[in-house]
Amino acid sequence: MLLLGTQRVNEAGHLEIGGVDAVQLAVDFGTPLYVMDEVALRTRCREYLAAFRSRYPRVEVSFAGKAFLCSGICPVIRQEGLRLDVASGGELYTALRAGFPADRISLHGNNKSLEELEMALDAGVGHIIVDNFLELGRLAEMTRERPAPQPILIRAAPGIDPHTHRRISTGQVDTKFGFDVGSGAILEAVRRASEMPGVKLLGLHCHVGSQLLDTECHEDSVAVMVDLLASIRDRFGIQFEELNIGGGLGIRYLPSHQPPSVDGFAEAVIGRLTAALDAAGLEYPALLLEPGRSLVGEAGVTLYTLGGIKAIPGVRTYVSVDGGLSDNPRPALYEAKYTVLTANRMNEPHDTRVTVSGKHCETDVLFPDIDLADPQPGDTLAVLSTGAYNYAMASNYNRFRRPAVVLVADGHADLLVERESYDDLLKNDRIPERLL
Ligand code: LLP
Repeated sequence: MLLLGTQRVNEAGHLEIGGVDAVQLAVDFGTPLYVMDEVALRTRCREYLAAFRSRYPRVEVSFAGKAFLCSGICPVIRQEGLRLDVASGGELYTALRAGFPADRISLHGNNKSLEELEMALDAGVGHIIVDNFLELGRLAEMTRERPAPQPILIRAAPGIDPHTHRRISTGQVDTKFGFDVGSGAILEAVRRASEMPGVKLLGLHCHVGSQLLDTECHEDSVAVMVDLLASIRDRFGIQFEELNIGGGLGIRYLPSHQPPSVDGFAEAVIGRLTAALDAAGLEYPALLLEPGRSLVGEAGVTLYTLGGIKAIPGVRTYVSVDGGLSDNPRPALYEAKYTVLTANRMNEPHDTRVTVSGKHCETDVLFPDIDLADPQPGDTLAVLSTGAYNYAMASNYNRFRRPAVVLVADGHADLLVERESYDDLLKNDRIPERLL
């Protein structure tokens, strides 16, 4: 049985997370419920820093907030010594309001609005990662009158095709993200940026894809990026201070998933990086990483309450839970697979084949053909590895209220996000006067 982080089976035969009984969490906070294991998250943060810093002189790790961002996670990330990556005005606003130091925040996005750029410049963020020529031109204008230059990185599309779902591939040639390496667009971007007085061009950025279960793509992209650093030195005489290689390390959704350990990942990436830098005679730039999923993914569990059971003889048995597409769109979007456990009867054999569906008004199959302990209405189901891109991608489809998020550690559970209320759903609704 796959158990992650601090998960274990307690004396009652229930799943326990962070020393808290999952069945009790379902009673206390209701379901669907996202549960975040604080120790598991902090442990991953420490593993990242230790694995990379023990092998390379200067390393900074940013948490990619897009995977899971709310105000209460910001202090945890800050306390662990990580930086934070944001991908929108909303994420930036959340981080700033939570008191995350602006100079440790990086802003991403392939179509940043003027408002987002303005917010980042006003706050004094640590990096803006520039994605395209329009943005470069806008920044040239917007930074002209500012007292201090804005540090930037330029995002490259290194032309590496990652072995992952096509919708989460980003580094290949055919992508909306970043400046193309093959065509030389990236060199033109570097030339223009290096002549802009209002910005300080610190280096390059790339990100190849997500949920990568081997290190090959990262190693290849590091090699491409070092070649690029060497071309830039040869052509412009610039040696960059920073190289950001993005995120992308995969996690265990199923027992069969065997992603590299953070240590193994660091060993492979740093090995290739230092070999390539030495071969090119380049000084070592600071190495920046921005993992999302591999920091928070395995730390999260979703709890549901099982409702109706429909057995279609000779076909399949459907069991329905009290959430679905709106709290986890990943099965529908990416055919994502998950491990599901009967949290209230963990010691019983999980040998009844069912298909778990949500409760939306459409065929929202969540987990097809999985095995549970003989399902009964009222069971608490625990879905593992939902810490990344679940709460972050949740919606109000069918006017469902988005679930609460709790942080568990040492036998305590604290709310990070309250469950939405029905009034929250109406908060921004307006009925035009003339219709009344
Ligand atoms: N940096 C950049 C520029 C990114 O675009 C991403 C993810 C990351 C870092 C973090 O990647 P990670 O370490 O989490 O793989 N919604 C999809 C995942 C989209 C990932 C987008 N970019 C999913 O649910 O699988």
